[in-house]
Amino acid sequence: ALIGKGNYRHFMEKEIHEQPEVMGYTLFHYYRSADRSIALPDLPFDPASLPKLTIVAAGTSFYAGMVAKYWFETLARIPVEIDIASEFRYRNPVMPEGGAALFISQSGESLDTLMALRHARDGGQHIVALVNQPESTIARESDVVLETLAGPEICVASTKAFTTQLVALLTLAVDFARRRGSASKEQLDAVMDSLVHLPAQIGEVLKETEKWLPVSHELSKVRDVLYLGRGLSYPIAMEGALKLKELSYIHAEGYAAGEMKHGPIALLEEGVPVIMVAPMDPWFEKVASNAMEVRARGGRVILLSDRSGINRLGDLATWSFELPECDPMVAPILYTIPVQLLSYFTAAEKGTDVDQPRNLAKSVTVE
Ligand code: G6P
Repeated sequence: ALIGKGNYRHFMEKEIHEQPEVMGYTLFHYYRSADRSIALPDLPFDPASLPKLTIVAAGTSFYAGMVAKYWFETLARIPVEIDIASEFRYRNPVMPEGGAALFISQSGESLDTLMALRHARDGGQHIVALVNQPESTIARESDVVLETLAGPEICVASTKAFTTQLVALLTLAVDFARRRGSASKEQLDAVMDSLVHLPAQIGEVLKETEKWLPVSHELSKVRDVLYLGRGLSYPIAMEGALKLKELSYIHAEGYAAGEMKHGPIALLEEGVPVIMVAPMDPWFEKVASNAMEVRARGGRVILLSDRSGINRLGDLATWSFELPECDPMVAPILYTIPVQLLSYFTAAEKGTDVDQPRNLAKSVTVE
Protein backbone atom coordinates (compact mmCIF):
# COMPACT_ATOMS: atom_id res chain seq x y z
CA ALA A 1 0.00 0.00 0.00
CA LEU A 2 1.15 3.53 -0.66
CA ILE A 3 1.93 5.33 2.56
CA GLY A 4 1.51 9.09 2.59
CA LYS A 5 2.89 11.85 4.77
CA GLY A 6 -0.53 13.11 5.74
CA ASN A 7 -0.28 16.65 7.04
CA TYR A 8 3.38 16.32 7.89
CA ARG A 9 6.26 17.82 5.95
CA HIS A 10 8.41 14.71 6.16
CA PHE A 11 7.99 11.05 7.00
CA MET A 12 10.33 11.63 9.92
CA GLU A 13 7.96 14.16 11.45
CA LYS A 14 5.02 11.82 10.90
CA GLU A 15 6.87 8.87 12.41
CA ILE A 16 7.94 10.91 15.45
CA HIS A 17 4.30 11.77 16.05
CA GLU A 18 3.15 8.17 15.65
CA GLN A 19 5.27 7.09 18.61
CA PRO A 20 2.70 7.30 21.42
CA GLU A 21 0.34 5.09 19.45
CA VAL A 22 2.83 2.46 18.26
CA MET A 23 4.56 2.32 21.63
CA GLY A 24 1.17 1.50 23.12
CA TYR A 25 0.56 -1.23 20.54
CA THR A 26 3.95 -2.75 21.27
CA LEU A 27 3.57 -2.57 25.04
CA PHE A 28 0.10 -4.08 25.13
CA HIS A 29 1.10 -6.80 22.70
CA TYR A 30 3.13 -8.24 25.59
CA TYR A 31 1.70 -6.66 28.72
CA ARG A 32 -1.64 -6.61 30.49
CA SER A 33 -1.89 -3.79 33.00
CA ALA A 34 -5.00 -5.24 34.75
CA ASP A 35 -2.91 -7.96 36.43
CA ARG A 36 0.53 -6.68 35.36
CA SER A 37 1.18 -9.93 33.48
CA ILE A 38 3.71 -10.31 30.67
CA ALA A 39 3.12 -12.86 27.91
CA LEU A 40 6.08 -13.76 25.69
CA PRO A 41 6.46 -16.41 23.00
CA ASP A 42 7.76 -19.76 24.32
CA LEU A 43 11.48 -19.62 24.97
CA PRO A 44 13.83 -22.56 24.30
CA PHE A 45 15.79 -21.67 27.47
CA ASP A 46 14.98 -20.82 31.06
CA PRO A 47 15.74 -17.15 31.75
CA ALA A 48 16.15 -18.05 35.44
CA SER A 49 19.36 -19.94 34.67
CA LEU A 50 20.60 -18.00 31.65
CA PRO A 51 24.40 -17.70 32.02
CA LYS A 52 24.88 -14.82 29.59
CA LEU A 53 23.03 -12.62 27.13
CA THR A 54 24.84 -11.32 24.06
CA ILE A 55 23.20 -8.38 22.29
CA VAL A 56 24.18 -7.48 18.73
CA ALA A 57 22.83 -4.83 16.36
CA ALA A 58 23.82 -1.95 14.08
CA GLY A 59 23.10 1.76 13.91
CA THR A 60 20.25 3.06 16.01
CA SER A 61 19.24 -0.51 16.91
CA PHE A 62 22.66 -0.86 18.56
CA TYR A 63 21.86 2.04 20.89
CA ALA A 64 18.64 0.28 21.88
CA GLY A 65 20.86 -2.66 22.78
CA MET A 66 23.13 -0.42 24.89
CA VAL A 67 20.14 0.76 26.91
CA ALA A 68 18.92 -2.83 27.22
CA LYS A 69 22.27 -3.90 28.65
CA TYR A 70 21.68 -1.62 31.64
CA TRP A 71 18.16 -3.00 32.08
CA PHE A 72 19.15 -6.67 31.88
CA GLU A 73 22.08 -6.14 34.23
CA THR A 74 20.33 -3.94 36.76
CA LEU A 75 16.92 -5.57 36.88
CA ALA A 76 17.58 -9.17 35.81
CA ARG A 77 21.22 -9.45 36.99
CA ILE A 78 22.25 -11.24 33.79
CA PRO A 79 25.80 -10.78 32.49
CA VAL A 80 25.41 -8.92 29.20
CA GLU A 81 27.84 -8.42 26.38
CA ILE A 82 26.97 -6.00 23.59
CA ASP A 83 28.64 -5.38 20.29
CA ILE A 84 28.17 -3.81 16.90
CA ALA A 85 27.30 -6.47 14.32
CA SER A 86 30.20 -5.71 11.99
CA GLU A 87 32.67 -6.21 14.87
CA PHE A 88 31.01 -9.19 16.52
CA ARG A 89 30.96 -11.28 13.39
CA TYR A 90 34.73 -11.06 13.02
CA ARG A 91 35.59 -11.59 16.69
CA ASN A 92 35.98 -14.82 18.52
CA PRO A 93 33.68 -14.06 21.45
CA VAL A 94 33.38 -16.51 24.32
CA MET A 95 29.88 -17.94 24.17
CA PRO A 96 28.92 -20.14 27.10
CA GLU A 97 26.82 -23.25 26.67
CA GLY A 98 23.16 -22.41 27.08
CA GLY A 99 23.70 -18.70 26.48
CA ALA A 100 21.32 -16.57 24.46
CA ALA A 101 22.04 -13.99 21.79
CA LEU A 102 19.60 -11.20 20.98
CA PHE A 103 19.62 -9.48 17.59
CA ILE A 104 17.85 -6.15 17.29
CA SER A 105 16.91 -4.93 13.82
CA GLN A 106 14.14 -2.78 12.44
CA SER A 107 14.37 -4.27 8.95
CA GLY A 108 15.48 -7.75 9.93
CA GLU A 109 17.71 -7.60 6.86
CA SER A 110 20.92 -5.81 7.90
CA LEU A 111 23.62 -8.07 6.51
CA ASP A 112 26.14 -7.59 9.30
CA THR A 113 23.48 -8.39 11.90
CA LEU A 114 22.37 -11.49 10.00
CA MET A 115 25.96 -12.74 9.71
CA ALA A 116 26.51 -12.07 13.41
CA LEU A 117 23.40 -14.14 14.13
CA ARG A 118 24.85 -17.09 12.20
CA HIS A 119 28.13 -16.64 14.10
CA ALA A 120 26.26 -16.87 17.42
CA ARG A 121 24.30 -19.89 16.24
CA ASP A 122 27.59 -21.61 15.35
CA GLY A 123 28.68 -20.72 18.87
CA GLY A 124 25.75 -22.71 20.26
CA GLN A 125 23.65 -19.76 21.45
CA HIS A 126 19.86 -19.63 21.55
CA ILE A 127 18.86 -17.02 19.01
CA VAL A 128 16.32 -14.34 19.85
CA ALA A 129 15.37 -11.62 17.36
CA LEU A 130 13.63 -8.32 18.00
CA VAL A 131 12.45 -7.04 14.64
CA ASN A 132 9.90 -4.71 13.11
CA GLN A 133 9.53 -7.00 10.08
CA PRO A 134 8.39 -10.46 11.22
CA GLU A 135 8.75 -11.85 7.69
CA SER A 136 12.43 -10.88 7.49
CA THR A 137 15.49 -13.09 7.11
CA ILE A 138 16.68 -12.42 10.66
CA ALA A 139 13.26 -13.41 12.01
CA ARG A 140 13.20 -16.60 9.94
CA GLU A 141 16.60 -17.68 11.21
CA SER A 142 15.81 -17.10 14.89
CA ASP A 143 14.52 -19.49 17.56
CA VAL A 144 12.31 -16.82 19.11
CA VAL A 145 10.93 -13.74 17.40
CA LEU A 146 9.79 -10.70 19.33
CA GLU A 147 8.11 -7.98 17.35
CA THR A 148 7.94 -4.25 17.56
CA LEU A 149 4.62 -3.00 16.26
CA ALA A 150 5.93 0.28 14.87
CA GLY A 151 4.38 -0.19 11.44
CA PRO A 152 6.32 0.64 8.28
CA GLU A 153 9.14 3.12 8.89
CA ILE A 154 9.94 5.11 5.75
CA CYS A 155 12.44 7.73 6.93
CA VAL A 156 15.98 6.35 6.70
CA ALA A 157 16.76 7.57 10.21
CA SER A 158 14.98 5.36 12.73
CA THR A 159 12.59 6.93 15.24
CA LYS A 160 9.50 4.89 16.10
CA ALA A 161 11.30 1.59 15.52
CA PHE A 162 13.83 2.63 18.18
CA THR A 163 11.34 3.67 20.85
CA THR A 164 9.23 0.54 20.29
CA GLN A 165 12.39 -1.57 20.54
CA LEU A 166 13.05 0.04 23.90
CA VAL A 167 9.50 -0.66 25.08
CA ALA A 168 9.81 -4.34 24.12
CA LEU A 169 13.29 -4.66 25.64
CA LEU A 170 12.30 -3.14 28.97
CA THR A 171 9.26 -5.44 29.14
CA LEU A 172 11.51 -8.41 28.39
CA ALA A 173 14.02 -7.35 31.06
CA VAL A 174 11.21 -7.04 33.62
CA ASP A 175 9.91 -10.49 32.68
CA PHE A 176 13.38 -12.00 33.10
CA ALA A 177 13.82 -10.15 36.39
CA ARG A 178 10.59 -11.66 37.71
CA ARG A 179 11.62 -15.16 36.71
CA ARG A 180 15.03 -14.69 38.30
CA GLY A 181 13.72 -13.04 41.45
CA SER A 182 16.46 -10.47 40.98
CA ALA A 183 14.49 -7.30 41.75
CA SER A 184 11.70 -6.45 44.16
CA LYS A 185 8.08 -6.65 43.04
CA GLU A 186 7.68 -2.99 44.03
CA GLN A 187 10.50 -1.88 41.79
CA LEU A 188 9.32 -3.90 38.79
CA ASP A 189 5.70 -2.80 39.24
CA ALA A 190 6.83 0.83 39.41
CA VAL A 191 8.78 0.41 36.17
CA MET A 192 5.81 -1.13 34.33
CA ASP A 193 3.37 1.45 35.71
CA SER A 194 5.63 4.23 34.47
CA LEU A 195 5.94 2.53 31.07
CA VAL A 196 2.14 2.39 30.81
CA HIS A 197 1.97 6.16 31.35
CA LEU A 198 4.76 6.93 28.94
CA PRO A 199 2.82 7.10 25.63
CA ALA A 200 0.50 9.77 27.03
CA GLN A 201 3.46 11.71 28.46
CA ILE A 202 5.19 11.60 25.09
CA GLY A 203 1.94 12.74 23.49
CA GLU A 204 2.10 15.82 25.75
CA VAL A 205 5.70 16.53 24.76
CA LEU A 206 4.73 16.27 21.08
CA LYS A 207 1.93 18.80 21.49
CA GLU A 208 4.44 21.60 21.99
CA THR A 209 7.01 21.12 19.28
CA GLU A 210 7.29 24.85 18.45
CA LYS A 211 9.38 25.36 21.55
CA TRP A 212 12.25 23.42 19.94
CA LEU A 213 12.46 25.82 16.98
CA PRO A 214 14.62 28.65 18.42
CA VAL A 215 17.30 26.28 19.70
CA SER A 216 17.23 24.29 16.44
CA HIS A 217 17.71 27.54 14.57
CA GLU A 218 20.88 28.18 16.63
CA LEU A 219 22.10 24.62 16.14
CA SER A 220 21.70 24.88 12.39
CA LYS A 221 24.45 27.53 12.37
CA VAL A 222 27.17 25.67 14.27
CA ARG A 223 29.93 23.30 13.22
CA ASP A 224 30.18 20.97 16.24
CA VAL A 225 27.71 19.76 18.83
CA LEU A 226 28.44 17.59 21.84
CA TYR A 227 25.87 15.30 23.51
CA LEU A 228 26.60 14.10 27.03
CA GLY A 229 24.85 11.63 29.30
CA ARG A 230 25.68 9.03 31.93
CA GLY A 231 24.26 5.66 32.74
CA LEU A 232 21.00 5.07 30.93
CA SER A 233 21.31 8.45 29.22
CA TYR A 234 24.70 7.71 27.68
CA PRO A 235 23.25 5.68 24.78
CA ILE A 236 20.66 8.43 24.24
CA ALA A 237 23.48 10.96 23.93
CA MET A 238 25.02 8.67 21.30
CA GLU A 239 21.71 8.32 19.49
CA GLY A 240 21.17 12.10 19.58
CA ALA A 241 24.58 12.73 18.03
CA LEU A 242 24.01 10.07 15.37
CA LYS A 243 20.68 11.60 14.40
CA LEU A 244 22.04 15.14 14.22
CA LYS A 245 25.05 14.21 12.08
CA GLU A 246 23.11 12.01 9.68
CA LEU A 247 20.23 14.42 9.17
CA SER A 248 21.87 17.84 9.29
CA TYR A 249 25.50 16.95 8.41
CA ILE A 250 26.66 18.88 11.48
CA HIS A 251 29.53 17.21 13.28
CA ALA A 252 28.19 15.77 16.51
CA GLU A 253 29.66 13.51 19.15
CA GLY A 254 27.88 11.57 21.83
CA TYR A 255 29.97 10.89 24.89
CA ALA A 256 29.70 9.45 28.36
CA ALA A 257 29.76 12.68 30.37
CA GLY A 258 32.47 11.36 32.70
CA GLU A 259 34.75 10.73 29.74
CA MET A 260 34.56 14.34 28.52
CA LYS A 261 37.73 15.21 30.43
CA HIS A 262 39.64 12.62 28.40
CA GLY A 263 39.10 14.26 25.04
CA PRO A 264 36.02 16.21 24.00
CA ILE A 265 36.77 18.90 26.57
CA ALA A 266 39.47 20.05 24.15
CA LEU A 267 36.75 21.01 21.67
CA LEU A 268 35.02 23.32 24.13
CA GLU A 269 35.30 26.95 23.25
CA GLU A 270 33.03 29.97 23.43
CA GLY A 271 29.55 29.07 22.26
CA VAL A 272 29.91 25.33 21.52
CA PRO A 273 26.49 23.79 22.19
CA VAL A 274 26.49 20.86 24.61
CA ILE A 275 23.29 18.91 24.96
CA MET A 276 23.03 17.34 28.39
CA VAL A 277 20.65 14.38 28.65
CA ALA A 278 20.04 14.66 32.37
CA PRO A 279 16.94 13.25 34.02
CA MET A 280 16.94 13.35 37.83
CA ASP A 281 18.41 9.88 38.36
CA PRO A 282 21.29 8.39 40.36
CA TRP A 283 23.81 9.94 37.93
CA PHE A 284 22.36 13.45 38.03
CA GLU A 285 24.87 15.10 40.40
CA LYS A 286 27.79 13.78 38.35
CA VAL A 287 26.24 15.14 35.16
CA ALA A 288 25.64 18.45 36.93
CA SER A 289 29.35 18.83 37.62
CA ASN A 290 30.09 18.09 33.95
CA ALA A 291 27.61 20.82 32.99
CA MET A 292 29.50 23.25 35.22
CA GLU A 293 32.76 22.37 33.50
CA VAL A 294 31.14 23.05 30.13
CA ARG A 295 29.84 26.39 31.34
CA ALA A 296 33.22 27.37 32.82
CA ARG A 297 34.75 26.97 29.36
CA GLY A 298 32.14 29.08 27.64
CA GLY A 299 30.08 26.22 26.17
CA ARG A 300 26.34 26.71 25.82
CA VAL A 301 24.45 24.10 27.86
CA ILE A 302 21.20 22.78 26.41
CA LEU A 303 19.65 21.02 29.37
CA LEU A 304 17.12 18.22 28.95
CA SER A 305 15.76 17.38 32.39
CA ASP A 306 12.69 17.32 34.61
CA ARG A 307 11.43 19.96 37.03
CA SER A 308 13.81 19.11 39.86
CA GLY A 309 16.80 18.88 37.51
CA ILE A 310 16.00 22.26 36.02
CA ASN A 311 15.56 23.77 39.47
CA ARG A 312 19.00 22.50 40.35
CA LEU A 313 20.82 23.39 37.13
CA GLY A 314 18.64 25.63 34.98
CA ASP A 315 20.59 28.78 35.90
CA LEU A 316 23.70 27.71 34.09
CA ALA A 317 21.88 26.48 30.99
CA THR A 318 21.41 28.64 27.90
CA TRP A 319 18.27 26.64 27.13
CA SER A 320 16.38 24.28 29.46
CA PHE A 321 13.65 21.91 28.40
CA GLU A 322 11.42 20.37 31.00
CA LEU A 323 10.25 16.81 30.46
CA PRO A 324 7.63 14.99 32.54
CA GLU A 325 8.63 12.92 35.58
CA CYS A 326 8.99 9.18 35.06
CA ASP A 327 10.70 6.19 36.61
CA PRO A 328 14.48 6.52 36.05
CA MET A 329 14.48 3.15 34.25
CA VAL A 330 11.98 4.50 31.70
CA ALA A 331 13.71 7.86 31.20
CA PRO A 332 15.88 6.83 28.21
CA ILE A 333 12.72 6.21 26.20
CA LEU A 334 11.23 9.59 27.11
CA TYR A 335 14.50 11.48 26.54
CA THR A 336 14.77 10.04 23.04
CA ILE A 337 11.94 12.35 21.95
CA PRO A 338 13.80 15.66 22.47
CA VAL A 339 16.93 14.42 20.72
CA GLN A 340 14.78 13.36 17.77
CA LEU A 341 13.06 16.75 17.68
CA LEU A 342 16.34 18.67 17.90
CA SER A 343 17.83 16.80 14.96
CA TYR A 344 14.63 16.94 12.95
CA PHE A 345 14.10 20.69 13.32
CA THR A 346 17.79 21.48 12.86
CA ALA A 347 17.86 19.50 9.60
CA ALA A 348 14.56 21.02 8.46
CA GLU A 349 16.03 24.46 9.17
CA LYS A 350 19.13 23.65 7.10
CA GLY A 351 16.94 22.29 4.33
CA THR A 352 18.69 18.92 4.02
CA ASP A 353 16.88 15.88 2.66
CA VAL A 354 15.51 14.74 6.02
CA ASP A 355 13.93 11.47 4.94
CA GLN A 356 16.73 10.41 2.62
CA PRO A 357 20.09 11.78 3.80
CA ARG A 358 22.97 11.51 1.36
CA ASN A 359 24.91 8.22 1.26
CA LEU A 360 22.62 6.42 3.72
CA ALA A 361 20.22 3.54 3.13
CA LYS A 362 17.25 2.32 5.09
CA SER A 363 18.29 -1.26 5.08
CA VAL A 364 21.95 -2.11 4.56
CA THR A 365 22.20 -5.51 2.90
CA VAL A 366 25.83 -5.19 1.91
CA GLU A 367 28.91 -5.49 4.05
C1 G6P B 1 20.81 1.80 8.59
C2 G6P B 1 19.68 2.77 8.85
C3 G6P B 1 19.54 3.04 10.35
C4 G6P B 1 19.40 1.76 11.12
C5 G6P B 1 20.54 0.77 10.80
C6 G6P B 1 20.24 -0.61 11.35
O1 G6P B 1 22.02 2.41 8.89
O2 G6P B 1 19.92 3.97 8.17
O3 G6P B 1 18.41 3.87 10.59
O4 G6P B 1 19.40 2.02 12.49
O5 G6P B 1 20.66 0.61 9.39
O6 G6P B 1 19.14 -1.14 10.70
P1 G6P B 1 18.23 -2.28 11.25
O7 G6P B 1 17.15 -2.45 10.21
O8 G6P B 1 19.09 -3.51 11.35
O9 G6P B 1 17.70 -1.87 12.55
